[in-house]
Amino acid sequence: MGVFSGVPASIMGTGMYVPKKVITNEDISKMVDTSDEWIRERTGILRRHLAEKGELTSDVAEKAAREALEDAGVTPEDLDMVIVATNSPDTIFPGVAPKVQGMLGANRAGAFDVQSGCTGGVYAMAMAASGIASGIWKKVLVIGAEVLSPLVDWTDRNTCILFGDGAGAMVLGAAEEGGGRFISTELRSDGEKHDQITFRGGLVENPASQETVEKGLHYVEMKGNEVFRFVNRIIPPFLRQFCLNSGIEPEAIEWWFFHQANQRIIERAAERLGIQPEKVIINIDEYGNTSAASVFIALYEFLREDRVKKGDRLLFTAFGAGMTYGGIIYEA
Ligand code: UT7
Repeated sequence: MGVFSGVPASIMGTGMYVPKKVITNEDISKMVDTSDEWIRERTGILRRHLAEKGELTSDVAEKAAREALEDAGVTPEDLDMVIVATNSPDTIFPGVAPKVQGMLGANRAGAFDVQSGCTGGVYAMAMAASGIASGIWKKVLVIGAEVLSPLVDWTDRNTCILFGDGAGAMVLGAAEEGGGRFISTELRSDGEKHDQITFRGGLVENPASQETVEKGLHYVEMKGNEVFRFVNRIIPPFLRQFCLNSGIEPEAIEWWFFHQANQRIIERAAERLGIQPEKVIINIDEYGNTSAASVFIALYEFLREDRVKKGDRLLFTAFGAGMTYGGIIYEA
């Protein structure tokens, strides 16, 4: 893992979509034994957007994708590849990416899903940038999309307070003269901790049965506090070393896009890295944890605020089921 060489890959356009339905901490405190104060203080979340019944991951992905294509001035026929990072695919197969490719009429493009926990979005960006760097792809649509709400146990206060639905997308292409470019990436996994965030039911290990339903195996399960401690321990030194391996001091990163899992995790990591709070993008208050979509949504909103300047460095980082983690640096 390391520094990109070959054709520089640039972000040409971005898009996002979140469902209209909003559910507040107050709403959740009527469903499980929790409170607005607890959720706010422990996570930073105030509300999250949830899909309507029948609104699928491919639907939210398509909406974000259409906006990204328009923003980039790229037509679906121009695309060489569609990559969707998701942990809540409509079905285990086909993947979401082929469905979206079909919905868009991206007739020349291949399509595949990346399923790597909440880190999937960062993995997908790295795949897309690598494909462009190598010259095999010219234009790639990368989407992070989740409809996790049907996979969440709304009687489990450990998980139901956290997650939200939504999608973010970006179109990547070969950088034009003076355009931005991806600089470097580092993708990691600690599979010995594969039991920390799971969705166990309905596949090879636990084929669907009356028993799997009764045991609640068709829901997201998370050892929240263990994940919290793992991330606090691993992520700050990983990011420091990643920056140094990229030839960049952490202080020289202008904007930090952490996976929006928990505001306390983000603030602690930033503090340990000596990052000024104003350089850290936070929107977990509005969307909760949208898993593989979170860094895309954060970037979309940030770009619309017109704060980014030519040459600014943006670092995207995420962690999640696997346990996977990783980072990618972009120079605007
Ligand atoms: O996106 C993938 C990666 N995921 C993450 O990064 C999530 C990481 N983990 C977290 O964000 C946090 O661990 C949680 C927000 C899930 C939980 O926060 P915590 O500070 O780790 O709480 P805890 O599990 O240590 O629980 C502390 C107390 C316990 O009560 P006692 O034993 O001290 O009496 C829990 O039973 O808080 C209680 N508790 C709650 N109380 C009200 C746990 N969940 C809730 C709740 N409302 N929703």
